[in-house]
Amino acid sequence: VKKIRLPLKKRSYDILIGDDLAKKSGAVLRRLRVGNDAVIVSNANILRLYGARIERSLRRCRLSVRFETVPDSERAKSFSVLTGLMKRIAVYDRAKTLVIIAFGGGVIGDLAGFVSAIYKRGIPYIQMPTTLLAQVDSAIGGKVAVDLPLAKNLAGAFYQPKIVLSDISLLRSLSVRQVRNGLAEIIKYGVIKDEGLFGYLERDYRKVLSLDRGALQHVIWRSSRIKAGLVARDEFDNKGVRVALNYGHTLGHAIEAASGYSLKYSHGEAVAIGMVMALGISSRLGLAPDRDVSRIKSLIMSCGLPVRVKGLDLARIYEAHLHDKKFIRGMNRFVLPEKIGRVRVVEGVPDRVIKDAIRQCA
Ligand SMILES: NC(=O)c1ccc[n+]([C@@H]2O[C@H](COP(=O)([O-])OP(=O)(O)OC[C@H]3O[C@@H](n4cnc5c(N)ncnc54)[C@H](O)[C@@H]3O)[C@@H](O)[C@H]2O)c1
Ligand SMILES: [Zn+2]
Repeated sequence: VKKIRLPLKKRSYDILIGDDLAKKSGAVLRRLRVGNDAVIVSNANILRLYGARIERSLRRCRLSVRFETVPDSERAKSFSVLTGLMKRIAVYDRAKTLVIIAFGGGVIGDLAGFVSAIYKRGIPYIQMPTTLLAQVDSAIGGKVAVDLPLAKNLAGAFYQPKIVLSDISLLRSLSVRQVRNGLAEIIKYGVIKDEGLFGYLERDYRKVLSLDRGALQHVIWRSSRIKAGLVARDEFDNKGVRVALNYGHTLGHAIEAASGYSLKYSHGEAVAIGMVMALGISSRLGLAPDRDVSRIKSLIMSCGLPVRVKGLDLARIYEAHLHDKKFIRGMNRFVLPEKIGRVRVVEGVPDRVIKDAIRQCA
């Protein structure tokens, strides 16, 4: 098991990455002393696969166990699901010391984390991410939220978990599309911060796609270390450090919005195209050398991720990007690669440059 410490004074916690951590979850919770009554927030699909092993582990360590299932997919990140969940927890919560376990992908992590942040003004929770994307990204850093009709993640909080348990054995059941989804974020880490990780992916992306254990542990560990490092320096995303994680996300989110958050593009797929569009902006501004631009684009393609938008109105992508949360006082803000392993935040990119970069990916 590999361990990363995320130092945040009183809110510091560990990220553990290894095999069969779900089977050890009872012992881990006991050691943390965060509560005796576990509420596992998950969905039917994940519980059918892995519910029994986590329940057995918790009961063996004399924790009480209650399952709370929510609908699958982004629909669960809504106020109606949030209130329903909180009402049931409130009825159940008599003479108990609750600890919430977010057992699922990024959707469950964001929802269960937000419930933990606001129920009784905050109760302890742990993240047990079950997708590659959640293990390398969403389970770390304490950003929790639900969606509003106007935009994703519009109602949320910063609320750190007590521990993150990234159990690699749970990834076996992921579809290849889900693995690629996570790979997009791992490529992002390489580009923003770690040329070594990028080179590793160029050589061994096939091992990740085929869920080779060693490769998975390596990329999850390296990605988690980068995310933990950025979060440690900028917990509340107001020091201009954490913003680097948005590489590919400004136009990526715009692609998701323009497609109405349909199943057409997964988050990772939209981010992959967004990364290529941001590269286009970088080249036009003379920031990134051609060689690095083509290496990044090739890796994205080799991993089976898209580099072009199909069947979407380009004007809608442009419109959607204007609503980006990172914009300040009407000024746009992009994270642009300078070379593999280094990005720069650029404000006020000319509209025509953005439009050209979007058009180039059609
Ligand atoms: N908080 C953050 O910092 C942050 C960062 C990135 C993304 N996010 C959020 O994360 C969400 C996306 O997360 P995601 O990509 O994990 O999607 P997801 O949570 O919807 O999971 C994807 C699918 O995989 C299934 N699944 C989960 N684990 C499985 C397993 N082990 N085997 C088989 N199937 C499994 C799920 O049931 C679901 O159908 C978005 O809502 C996004 O906004 C949050
Ligand atoms: Zn992302």
